[in-house]
Amino acid sequence: MEQNRIYFFDTTLRDGEQTPGVALQTPEKVEIAKGLVRLGIDVIEAGFPAASSGDFEAVQTIAREVKGATICGLARANEKDVQKVAEALADAERSRLHVFIATSEIHMKYKLKMTREEVLAKVKSILEFAKGKFDEIEFSGEDASRTDLDFLCEVFGVAIAGGATILNVPDTVGYMMPREFVDKIRYIREHTPGIEKAIISVHCHDDLGLANANSLAAIEAGARQVECTVNGLGERAGNVGIEEVVMALKTRHDYFGDLQVHIDTKQFTKVSKLVSRLTGVVVPPNKAIIGSNAFAHESGIHQHGMLNNPETYEIMTPESVGAEKTNIVLGKHSGRHAFDDHLKSLGFHTFTEEKINDLFMKFKALADRKKQVYDDDIIALVVDNIHHKKAFELVAQYYKLGEKGYAYADVRLMTPDGERADAAVGDGPVDASLKAVERVVGLPISLKDYQIRAITAGKDALGEATLKVEYNGRLYHGRGISTDIVKSSVNAYINAVNSVFLAMELEQQEEE
Ligand code: KIV
Ligand code: ZN
Repeated sequence: MEQNRIYFFDTTLRDGEQTPGVALQTPEKVEIAKGLVRLGIDVIEAGFPAASSGDFEAVQTIAREVKGATICGLARANEKDVQKVAEALADAERSRLHVFIATSEIHMKYKLKMTREEVLAKVKSILEFAKGKFDEIEFSGEDASRTDLDFLCEVFGVAIAGGATILNVPDTVGYMMPREFVDKIRYIREHTPGIEKAIISVHCHDDLGLANANSLAAIEAGARQVECTVNGLGERAGNVGIEEVVMALKTRHDYFGDLQVHIDTKQFTKVSKLVSRLTGVVVPPNKAIIGSNAFAHESGIHQHGMLNNPETYEIMTPESVGAEKTNIVLGKHSGRHAFDDHLKSLGFHTFTEEKINDLFMKFKALADRKKQVYDDDIIALVVDNIHHKKAFELVAQYYKLGEKGYAYADVRLMTPDGERADAAVGDGPVDASLKAVERVVGLPISLKDYQIRAITAGKDALGEATLKVEYNGRLYHGRGISTDIVKSSVNAYINAVNSVFLAMELEQQEEE
């Protein structure tokens, strides 16, 4: 480990996947992991193998197919979990176990029902069990920021003696104030036995909007690994967004001094869009670095200043994060080679010839409907066609507007029981079409949130529908794209329904 380097540990595929409503399938996770490698991430936390067979399969596939970063799996401090991680990571180029146990009084008393002595003994025994099974071991004290500091140092000391070389301090509930976090990290550095053999990591949640401030404060106090997610996804208010930490370190290198960051910041916009499209979680326009307004200057005074000297209002350039203005890239006369080259320039390197041919046909159909095809259109097309299991697929749809805003719609879907069609009347064509789909699916699924937006410029832009549905108390995201917004909406709804079915299938497998 280089002392002046900040290592980035990405948990988009684990903590990020705990975002309510997000359920990624293995091919989608592999695509994200490859994007993370292009970004230059040091460690990818690919999942929690003991959580479900789906998680195990995803971690194993990433370990086999994704090279160029350490692949990590999460485990609770029990042998079954650790064994699952070892099996899932068997083929990784470099493997890391991330093992955790809660250390705060409130978690030990009410969740674990364990004493301090029992927790210490557990840490010792689980590290003995894990020894030799991985290239490296990271240990986390869950809720560390609310843990008695001397006890935390004692636990960390036991973990280091057992072979852990990365000690993670999660601010699990996003409770820290930056100054307070600095003091804690310094205390841990000064009072943990053997800490010179390890590096300190931080994992900050954003419940009070302080995840980036706390991560940067910890770096100032000597932490050398930061755990983060793309777009700040994660439990509740999310984890710190990698783009925020990195751009703060780069933009203010005058302040942070000689710290090395090996991240290709020009990839931020692409990776952000990939993750947003695949998860269905839309990035707010005003989000730092990756929001669509992050480099937009609205007021006349600002625009005037920018024209005279961009540095008047711009502390970093859009180019530095890959957010330059979208160019028209391809049209209906573009050939297969140009399309293939373009896919590669967007980072999609690993499609088979068959897949490229299939995507090319879809691109041609799109270019017939839309004169100018932009990068974003192509990313949307690819993401929409990353293979995943679909219980339902739209075969045909039809709608007709009636009087007073009512509409009639019918849909035909491919279902697990063959083709089925149904019809409904609703308040406008989207409402009627979604009701018709609901009738075919036959489950009490309720729509919770629905948004539609144009992906690129122009009257013929692709419309992206994103929505959330609730089933059995859980939220599921869905997204769909088309130049016809009713079709985008129907596809988004079917996409969410497919996630409901996938979750039901996984639950059933777990029970068997
Ligand atoms: O927030 C948290 O404490 C976690 C741990 C598993 C590191 O995600
Ligand atoms: Zn977390």
